[in-house]
Amino acid sequence: FSEFLTDTFNRQHDYLRISITERCNLRCLYCMPEEGVPLSPQSHMLTSPEIYYLASLFVSQGVTKIRLTGGEPTIRKDIIPLMQSIGSLRSKGLRELALTTNAISLHRKLDSMVEAGLTGVNISLDTLDPFQFQLMTRRNGFEAVKKSIDKILEMNRLGANIRLKINCVVMRGLNDREILPFVELGREQDIEVRFIEYMPFDGNKWSKGKMFPYQEMLDRIRSKYPTLEKVQDHKNDTSKTYRVPGFVGKMGFITSMTHNFCGTCNRLRITGDGNLKVCLFGNSEVSLRDILREGNDGLPIDEEAFQTIKQAEMNRLGESFNDDTPLGWGKREEGLLDIIG
Ligand code: GTP
Ligand code: 5AD
Ligand code: SF4
Repeated sequence: FSEFLTDTFNRQHDYLRISITERCNLRCLYCMPEEGVPLSPQSHMLTSPEIYYLASLFVSQGVTKIRLTGGEPTIRKDIIPLMQSIGSLRSKGLRELALTTNAISLHRKLDSMVEAGLTGVNISLDTLDPFQFQLMTRRNGFEAVKKSIDKILEMNRLGANIRLKINCVVMRGLNDREILPFVELGREQDIEVRFIEYMPFDGNKWSKGKMFPYQEMLDRIRSKYPTLEKVQDHKNDTSKTYRVPGFVGKMGFITSMTHNFCGTCNRLRITGDGNLKVCLFGNSEVSLRDILREGNDGLPIDEEAFQTIKQAEMNRLGESFNDDTPLGWGKREEGLLDIIG
């Protein structure tokens, strides 16, 4: 493994998340206001050749998994050729190419994506009820999401091997009554449902009262499924995995609010406008786009990018965080502790 992507805490960063658009066709209550988020000017966004260039640079340094995210990645017009080019990095060591999507238009693009090398899809779906879907996303689209999920399951039945996870952000009073129906999804289908603790973001009107903590989710699930058992997590998973004996699928919990997982974090992130962000909760970002477009110091672009990335890795936070530290980012954003108490 390249020393390059190893940080001061000896964590090896082999998982790169690339946001390919800031736009989205939904307006989930916990994510965006009705009017959407302010967008960067189009000229600031990375082009597909730039994204490919960065992806190949990171793969050459040991990244084995790339996840495309957004906004909503499927609304980027050139997503298929982009995936094809990134998919070609399999011959250079890329093992997984994944997508996080709301799946509204996924069913139309799935065949070409799988052909391009897509290995896993995480679908954001917080409710199994079309009316509640409209309430939580402020848009219609439940049937389209369902169509995408059914299509993945069908492709898997026919021999594809697309890893399917459903991300469900649990908000008290809104969709917490659906925890048990979501668990039921795994009875006969090979789906991993991940229950996510609602997190505060800029302007998402977070309140402690709406957050539904991990322990309470577990208690509720155990009241119906007392045999629920823990499954060994993979080394760098952010979720804690469980299964109900006899069920085909699994479930996971992403507990960013009550137990952090920084100690095992292996992620690197590139924002839509080309900034490298080594920590979700740290504020420091460096622009890789500027290096690609302007170069500098007469150094070859690769060399310049390497130095910048290495510097960012060295500034990465995280050594003193472990699973008992309440709140992943408590020490970094002390203000939040005041809100949460
Ligand atoms: P896989 O582990 O590859 O399945 O993906 P993932 O869970 O990292 O990605 P996904 O895009 O599905 O994100 C699921 C949830 O995890 C979202 O709520 C993210 O905000 C959260 N998340 C992703 N990365 C991090 C992280 O480094 N720290 C924290 N606290 N949350 C994260
Ligand atoms: N809290 C928790 N999870 C969130 N997501 C978006 N906003 C929040 C929030 N405030 C989740 C989405 C998506 C994933 C990438 O992040 O549900 O599945
Ligand atoms: Fe945010 Fe994803 Fe919902 Fe779009 S689908 S509003 S990006 S959580």
